[in-house]
This record gives sequence, C-alpha cells and structure tokens, in this order.
Amino acid sequence: MTESNLIGRCRLIKVPVIPDHRGKIGVVEGGATIPFEIKRVYYLFDVPAGAERGGHAHKELEQLMVAVSGSFDVTIDDGRTRQTVSLRRPDEGLYIGPQVWREIIGFSSNAVCLVLASQHYAEADYIRSYEAFTTRGQI
Ligand code: TYD
Repeated sequence: MTESNLIGRCRLIKVPVIPDHRGKIGVVEGGATIPFEIKRVYYLFDVPAGAERGGHAHKELEQLMVAVSGSFDVTIDDGRTRQTVSLRRPDEGLYIGPQVWREIIGFSSNAVCLVLASQHYAEADYIRSYEAFTTRGQI
C-alpha cells in the first residue's frame, strides 16, 4: 500500500526518527509532519485478542494513527471503497481525514495505537451508524 492510492485524503505519513546508540525518537509536529495542529492525544492499549475498535466516522476530526508498539489493521471506507492498511511500525502513521469510516481489528497482544487528533473529544462529531454514514447528504 503506497501513500498515493488510499481513499480520500487518507495516506501513510513517515514519522521522522532520530536514532543514536541509546535508541530512537519518533517526532510528530502538528502542522508540519501532519496537516493539522494537535489538540488531543489518546491511545488504545490492553486491547483483548479479537476485539474490534472504531466502527464510526467523524464529521470534521482529522487523526494520525501510529502503531507505537505491536500491530493492528485499520479498514478505511468512504462509502464506496474499502481498504485495509496494516500498521506495524512506530515510524509511520495513517492520516485519516474527515468523513471516513474506520474499523480497527487484528490487534497483536502488545499493541498500542497512538492517536493524534485535531480536536478535543466531541460526541457530536461522530457518525456511529454505517447507514447514516453512507446515506449522508442524501434527501
Ligand atoms: P470511541 O471513539 O468510540 O472508541 P474507538 O477507539 O473504538 O473508536 O470511544 C469509546 C468511548 O470513549 C466513548 O464512550 C467515547 C469515549 N471517549 C472519550 O470520552 N474521549 C476520547 O478522547 C475518546 C477517543 C473516547
């Protein structure tokens, strides 16, 4: 999966890494590495085997998802096309723009999904019904 063939504005973004003999630093700067300023950081961890997260779209929120530990699969869907992206490295992130349905599955036992988000939490920004998502904008 290359950066250019994901749906919508979704794309894989390389996270710059600063290595030295003590280890590595991955650096994400709002408005520079990613196309939005960061207002919220959250992370999924202790996800049980077989659990599914996501299952919604956002009206305006932009996010970068990074597998800072372990791995998981993110399915993105614009209502017409579905694609699944495997995230398994801490030096790249999946940018997900607004109006994209996402489902996150296949968490490895040690997975940590770090999410950088453009807005504070707001339930009103969620579209939690797939039918409402695919029929939005229709009369
Ligand atoms: P949700 O975004 O649906 O989880 P997922 O990671 O599977 O997409 O959030 C699950 C619950 O946690 C829901 O009740 C909303 C709450 N929540 C917050 O209160 N603040 C947050 O920043 C997030 C991400 C979720």
